This record gives sequence, C-alpha cells and structure tokens, in this order.
Amino acid sequence: MANLLAIKPLSVLLKESENEGEMGLKRALGPVNLITLGIGAIIGAGIFVLTGQAAAKHAGPAVVLSFIMAGITCAFAGLCYAEFASLIPIAGSAYTYGYATLGEFVAWIIGWDLVLEYAFGAATVASGWSGYFVGLLQDFHIYLPPQFTTTPGNVLCLYQNHWMPVASLPAGVNAVGMPHVTGVFNLVAFLAILVITAVLVIGIEESANLNSAIVMVKLFVVFVFLALGTVFLLHHPAVARANWHPFIPPSQGPGRFGLGGITAGAASIFFAYIGFDAVSTAAQEAKNPQRDMPIGILGSLVVCTLLYILVSGVLTGLVNYRALNVADPVAIGIDATGVVWGSILVKIGAVFGLGTVMLVMLLGQSRVFFSMSKDGLLWKWASQIHPRFRTPWISNIVVGIIVAFMPALLPIDRLSELVNMGTLLAFAIVCAGVWILRRRNPHLHRPFKTPLVPLVPILGILSALYLIWSLPALTKIVVVVWLVVGLVIYFTYSVKHSKVQKLALQPQKPQPQS
Ligand code: ALA
Repeated sequence: MANLLAIKPLSVLLKESENEGEMGLKRALGPVNLITLGIGAIIGAGIFVLTGQAAAKHAGPAVVLSFIMAGITCAFAGLCYAEFASLIPIAGSAYTYGYATLGEFVAWIIGWDLVLEYAFGAATVASGWSGYFVGLLQDFHIYLPPQFTTTPGNVLCLYQNHWMPVASLPAGVNAVGMPHVTGVFNLVAFLAILVITAVLVIGIEESANLNSAIVMVKLFVVFVFLALGTVFLLHHPAVARANWHPFIPPSQGPGRFGLGGITAGAASIFFAYIGFDAVSTAAQEAKNPQRDMPIGILGSLVVCTLLYILVSGVLTGLVNYRALNVADPVAIGIDATGVVWGSILVKIGAVFGLGTVMLVMLLGQSRVFFSMSKDGLLWKWASQIHPRFRTPWISNIVVGIIVAFMPALLPIDRLSELVNMGTLLAFAIVCAGVWILRRRNPHLHRPFKTPLVPLVPILGILSALYLIWSLPALTKIVVVVWLVVGLVIYFTYSVKHSKVQKLALQPQKPQPQS
C-alpha cells in the first residue's frame, strides 16, 4: 500500500540541486536573465487584452485598484515562492516544494495542476497571439487563408479588409452579405507553439537570450505607450479629468462597478500576473540560485506591478472605460493620442510579448515534468536530457506537440479561467508549505526568508482561496475532472515507480527537526 504522505527529504532535494554533472541541466542564468524570464512570462495577454475588459465590465478607472489588489495577492505568494526557490533550488517549483512538505500525494496533485497553468496557459496565449499576428499581417495587406487562422467551426467574415469573428463585429454592424469562411484548423497558433518548442529544445541559454531580447522590445512598446499617453494627458488635462471621473463608477449589481467591481476586476486580471512563479522552474539553470531566485521572482513581480498600475491609469485617462471592451485596448489607447504609427507598434509589441509568455510557460511545463519523472512519478522519457543541448528535449517535444493542438482545435476563450484556478491552487499550496516547513524545520538555513510568517502565508492562502471562490462553477468542475484523470495516472503508474516510496526514504511521521 502506497504511503500517500511520503515526504521527499530535504537532504535528498538539496543534494539533487547540487548535481550539476555532465547530464544535469546547464547553469547559465544570472539575475538579469531571471528577471527578464519573469517579465517575459508575465506581460502578455493580461495587459494587452484583459485590462480593457476589466475596466469596461467591472471596475472603470478603478481598474488601477484592481491591479493593486491582484498584485498584493501575488506578492504574498511571491514571497513564499522566493523562500522555497532559494531553499530548494531545483526545477520542479511548487511540485517540489509540495513534495518536501506536504507529501507525495499533494505533490502529485500540484504537479498535475501546474499543467493547467503552464500548458493550458501557453495554449491560451497562443490563441491570442495568432489573433494579433494575423491582424498585424492584414494591416500590411497580407492575407493568410482565413480558414487556417481560427478553430474549427468558428465563422469569420471580412469587415473593413480584416477577417474577424462574427461575434466581434462592432454593435449595429450586420454580417449578412459579407464574405464568410468557417474555420478548419488554427495553423498559425499550431506553428507558433512548434517554433517555440524548437527554440526550447536547442537550449536554455539560447532561449534565455532570445527571451531577453524580446522582453526589451515588449518593454520598449509599453514605455512608448506610457510616454505618449502621459504627454497627451498633460496637454489635455480636461480629457483625463472627464475619463477618470467618477474614478469608482456607481455599482450596477454584483461584480459590476462599485467596490465589488474592483474585486471582480482583480479576479479577472489575475491572469496578467501569472508567470512570476515560472522563474522558480528555472532554479536548476540559475548560476547562483540561492541569491538570484528571490531577485528574479520578486524583481519581475515588482516591475510588472508598477507597469500595470501605470498602463491602466494612463489607458483609462486616454479612453473612456466604456469604450475599452475590445480585443486591442492598448492600441485603441494609443490611437487616442493621435499618433498614427502607434497602434501598429502596439500590435508588434503584443506579437513579441505574447511570444515570450508562451516560451516561459512551455519552459516551465517541461521542467515540472522533468522533476516528476526524475522522482519516478512520470515516465522516464520526460527527464531524458539531450546529450548536446542538455535540455529535456523529449519532454519539450511531447509537451509542445500536445499543446500545439489545443489552440489549433479547441475554442479556448474560457481557458484563462482554468489557468487562473490552476495557478491559485499552486499559490495556496506553496504558502501552506512555507508555513509547515518553518514549523517542522525552523533552523534550516534559508537564504531568503518570507517576512512575518505565518501572517504572510495565511494571507496568501486566504486571498488565493477567495479568488478561486469567485471563479465560475464550470471552471471548478473541469478542474475536478482534470484532477481525477491525474489520480488515475498516479495510482496506476506513479505509486509503483516512485523513488521515494521504493527506497523508503521517509518516515511515516513528519521528520524530526534538523
Ligand atoms: N501573465 C500572462 C499574460 O498576461 C499569462 O499573458
């Protein structure tokens, strides 16, 4: 009978983290690489798409407060991730932390749950990316066969020289009489994931360097938006005053404006922050993980929080929040400044920006599978390292191919909610893990310590549970089904191959304090 509470001893984990032999992952990442890795994962569909919807549907100009609220939730979790990532700097992130503290069963659940965050997250972003990319090409009068730019059954019509979903036509525009096509396969999103998979197979250093270069482009676009927007608002203070007033629009029902709208806005733009935790999956590839993991995790979170607050403030000053429920709100914002090349620049930034989000998500996914496979909980191929590139190439390729089919075939508009739920569960478990380990092993050397334990972990757990609570019921049901599939794999494969179980490395009860 398997011991579901089997704990992977810290001594074993720490020894593994030091293993940098011939077949180990390559330690190539410094603090700047790690911060850019985080920014690469964080700034994406959230700021380029969801900000406008959150302002228009939930919070109005107070979406700025929604960003602060979601940022605070992430800060609690970020502080806990930082403690673990410096203490146990190996690739598995929340999965590994769960294994060290809450036992194998919870570790499995969290590892399986992280697939929702990373693999489904990459798929969701690929879908958004293909929309921006195809739109950008159409701005230059380049038309791909439209039936291969969207998912099967989705009807597109040609409106103002752009193929767009019938559902996205502006209010009052009738699609009757316009040329139509029905989607067959989103080849654009499919190929995007495959190209990124190829980059990841070639190597972590190359991936990180490419990521750093693209993050610079993405940040440049965000700064251009902020500069143009701020200059415009300084010259037109009356526009800003009119758009920012009332800052918190009066409530129109649950989750629609008023104070409740700020919270609902925070739950919906939580997606924008996802990604800082992905830095922790690169711990085994950091040159000095004890020092640099907290810098990477917290640094990227701070930079993105500040940028989000500024972008949402400037955006709602430039355009009335009611007009922001569009697919490209930042482009609409820059249009309002009268700078004609602005919206093309924003689309280019989004294309690059969403690209790096996919890259880091897929990187994180293969590293979690790598760790689970090393522990014997997944098949051996998932931890096979390429002799030359020193990357978990089979894991990258298998994950890449499966993920590529998701945005190509599935209507995944609602997938961001699944991603939110998967991530929030991971956050809650990581926060709980920090607290438990502090009690169990209070004297361990912790290169970075979460402040105010247990207050910060408790607030992290409560805020994650609160946001989970506000997600739709269907999302919760799908996640339960997903976890049941995971349990079948666990009980049919993992318990029989688990190294911790086999070697009986752990005692039944919590380990004595070191
Ligand atoms: N934070 C990432 C994004 O906004 C997932 O796309």
